[in-house]
Amino acid sequence: MPLFHPVSQQAHAISELFAFVLVLSAVVFGGIVIALSVILWRFRHSREDAGEPRAVFGDARLEIVWTAIPVVIVALLFTLTVGAMGASDPNAPPDRTADVVLVAHQWWWEIRYPAARVATANDLHIPVGAKQLVELQSADVIHDFWVPRLGRKIDMVPGHPVRLWLTADSAGTYFGACAEYCGAEHAWMRLRVTADPPATFASWLAAQQRPASPPTAANDSAATQGATLYSSLTCVNCHAVQGTADTARVGPDLTHLATRPSLAAERLPNTPQNLRRWLAEPDVVKPGSHMPNLHLSDRNLDLLVAYLLTLR
Ligand code: CUA
Repeated sequence: MPLFHPVSQQAHAISELFAFVLVLSAVVFGGIVIALSVILWRFRHSREDAGEPRAVFGDARLEIVWTAIPVVIVALLFTLTVGAMGASDPNAPPDRTADVVLVAHQWWWEIRYPAARVATANDLHIPVGAKQLVELQSADVIHDFWVPRLGRKIDMVPGHPVRLWLTADSAGTYFGACAEYCGAEHAWMRLRVTADPPATFASWLAAQQRPASPPTAANDSAATQGATLYSSLTCVNCHAVQGTADTARVGPDLTHLATRPSLAAERLPNTPQNLRRWLAEPDVVKPGSHMPNLHLSDRNLDLLVAYLLTLR
């Protein structure tokens, strides 16, 4: 039953178990409501009644029946659950290295492709139909990874990395979210997973591998001034731009910021206006965010936006 529109074998296992439990619960609930209604009607008080009804104590046959039915149901649910657990979270060989490392931060997702030496944020790409082994870590508090259409939830506990197979059987975009309350902006800790056809994925990854090309005064003087301003501000204490001296990993890697669909973990669509707004008042756009308000002048905001838009 395609209850959550699962697009992977792992998600199918969970969806089918959920659907079965839901139907079974509905049958049990319906049975109880019917039995209760019949009993209420049949044994209702009527005027012709003389005194109290006869009291009955114990009925071995009934007791066996109402013990056996729940035992069978619980045993069935147990068996199906163990099966779904195995199918939704198959073991990975211990020597297999992770294809993707996902690090949860308050309140964004750091994404690394170790083999390709690529770092990005909040915009996870995977090749369609290929099993990807994802290592999940946390940089601060307990978070929880959950992309419902792709599979199970899994806690991300600091100092305790875990691994998970991630697969999408059809190309598309699947949204996920942090599913463990992790502070003020938990609700805006969203993740976008895009399953690309293999060739598209390969070219996306190759584009992400390239370092940023610095703007030149000849083609864009605002961007060049923006780049100078960027490196003189505290931006460089938190953010990396590959191809420059900035390698900090506190905040998202900005090397290809302009190619990402959203800002601040899906808080805003990535448009020049929104980027400007995010730089101007991060504390209003996402209260509690660790991105500081630098109280930039209008002119400096324009220069910074011009520079950041060149990070493609
Ligand atoms: Cu991270 Cu909730």
